Amino acid sequence: MNKNNPIGFVDSGVGGLTVVKAAQNQLPHEQFVFIGDTARMPYGPRPAQEVIDYTFQMAEFLLAEKQIKLLVIACNTATARALPQLQAKLPIPVIGVIAPGARAAANATKNRQIGVIATQGTVTSGAYQAAITDFRPDVAVAQQAEPEFVQIVEANQASTQATQALVAKHLAPLTAQGIDTLVLGCTHFPLLTPAIQAAVGPTVQLVDAGRETVQVIIETLTNQGLLTGVTHQHANDVFYTTKDPETFSTIATAWLAREDALDVRHLAIVGDKHAQHLEEN
Ligand code: DGL
Repeated sequence: MNKNNPIGFVDSGVGGLTVVKAAQNQLPHEQFVFIGDTARMPYGPRPAQEVIDYTFQMAEFLLAEKQIKLLVIACNTATARALPQLQAKLPIPVIGVIAPGARAAANATKNRQIGVIATQGTVTSGAYQAAITDFRPDVAVAQQAEPEFVQIVEANQASTQATQALVAKHLAPLTAQGIDTLVLGCTHFPLLTPAIQAAVGPTVQLVDAGRETVQVIIETLTNQGLLTGVTHQHANDVFYTTKDPETFSTIATAWLAREDALDVRHLAIVGDKHAQHLEEN
């Protein structure tokens, strides 16, 4: 595998950009290619097999067309459902977001009460519960599914007053359980950080699972001799969406806070329900 090739990131939508942003800052010379499968989001309520199939389709496009050297599953739901299968089948290293978030939360808690907000799929999988207690068996984990938060972010409504009120209402029962640490167990949720922090109060520490993952990306690239030998520019990163490039571009440009226009392209979902693949058009 050529170490100068790009790193691939995949998510069901714009959420994975929270991982991309942190990674752009810490890996300034790498090249990134991102896919947000916006046409088929949300992944949270989907059966596990569907999430596995969709994630494989994104991985296969990135491998065949972009020759990626490493894949980051920048989506907790896809990590919970598909990480072991992808690691077993792909010829490159594959990194998920759950173990890094779980480790950071286990290290952060003082009162041993951790909250996790995630999609229904991630909550149902029990992946966070298992990963956190793996690092630290003596903690209690309270999980809550927040599918509505995903839709708010995709609709570019993260900063409205109505959103703040809704987030506060949803998180009140979790805060009442006395947690001192809250895992943002969905990559869409860091876009709601101000509303979430306001809702849970300043004493609750938020853990951004995606941001924690960047450290693992750096370790993997270093250990496997895959750090780029040339100086790429993040201005040349490519962003694919399976839905509308304009809406995607609006959210992505604001979130990534880059001066240059983003290269946002459309990816078509081709084929019937049972044999789909992705194609640039
Ligand atoms: N951003 C994804 C996650 O981290 C999924 C959101 C969704 O599509 O339901 O779980």
